[in-house]
Amino acid sequence: MVNVSAVRVAIITGAAQGIGRATAIRLNELGWALGLVDLQEIQSDLYRNAVSFSGDITDEIFVAGVVSGMVDHFGRIDALVNNAGISMIQPALSTEVGDYRKVLEVNLVAPFLLAKEVAPVMIAAGSGSIVNVASVAGMSGIAERSAYNASKHGLIGLAKTLAIEWGGKGVRVNCVSPGWVKTEMDHKDQAGGSYSDADITDHVPMGRFATPEDIANAIAFLCDSTISGFINGAVLPVDGGWTADGSWQSLRLRQR
Ligand SMILES: NC(=O)c1ccc[n+]([C@@H]2O[C@H](COP(=O)([O-])OP(=O)(O)OC[C@H]3O[C@@H](n4cnc5c(N)ncnc54)[C@H](O)[C@@H]3O)[C@@H](O)[C@H]2O)c1
Repeated sequence: MVNVSAVRVAIITGAAQGIGRATAIRLNELGWALGLVDLQEIQSDLYRNAVSFSGDITDEIFVAGVVSGMVDHFGRIDALVNNAGISMIQPALSTEVGDYRKVLEVNLVAPFLLAKEVAPVMIAAGSGSIVNVASVAGMSGIAERSAYNASKHGLIGLAKTLAIEWGGKGVRVNCVSPGWVKTEMDHKDQAGGSYSDADITDHVPMGRFATPEDIANAIAFLCDSTISGFINGAVLPVDGGWTADGSWQSLRLRQR
């Protein structure tokens, strides 16, 4: 075990790219030691005090190994960032049930597995923070995304429930809810022809996509009990005003 008694330790899933990678960089800059989890290989030598785990977060045995590996290596876990997720854009009528189940497994069941495995470590320490990366698609319906939207609505419901069960034991559970972010996920979704940059930027009051760093900063805030220590069961939109906005398109655009 390395001696990191004063260093806080976070697990981040989906850390190889996008929001997960930006979160790993931000937390590491702030002095956190990291456990980085992804299906893909992770460049853990980019970081100080980091270990990586390659595998599938839907696999219970893998998840148990990540958590026991973190406890063996660092002796503590202060934060879990349930970030890994997959997108699926498909009209409900042509969505195969197997594909629907796959999205729920990765986006909703796996975060539950991770939270359930990590919580005993946090509860024993009397503190911890779990941050689920949800989406504006977890707060409103968006057409042609039945599985994705259901998974993100579920992730918010899961966070609120765990926040109530574990808050009294010192473990906070919250969500960040990003709007559209420029990552591989967005590139792939746009390559399928479903939407364009302008579709998004016209809808966002602030007129732009989120950057991965916008989301990483909000996650870092919720991870850190010294600055967000009484925030529990909350959903923090990081969407440039998307979910707050009930304006029609011409009215919104007239404000620019
Ligand atoms: N990009 C956006 O516009 C956007 C908007 C709102 C919410 N989100 C959410 O933010 C999170 C991160 O999104 P992103 O845009 O960085 O995505 P991304 O596709 O760029 O990265 C996701 C990472 O998760 C990993 N991953 C996927 N399935 C996994 C599994 N079963 N086990 C382990 N790792 C797995 C991938 O390998 C990848 O490295 C997701 O939960 C996504 O739903 C993204």
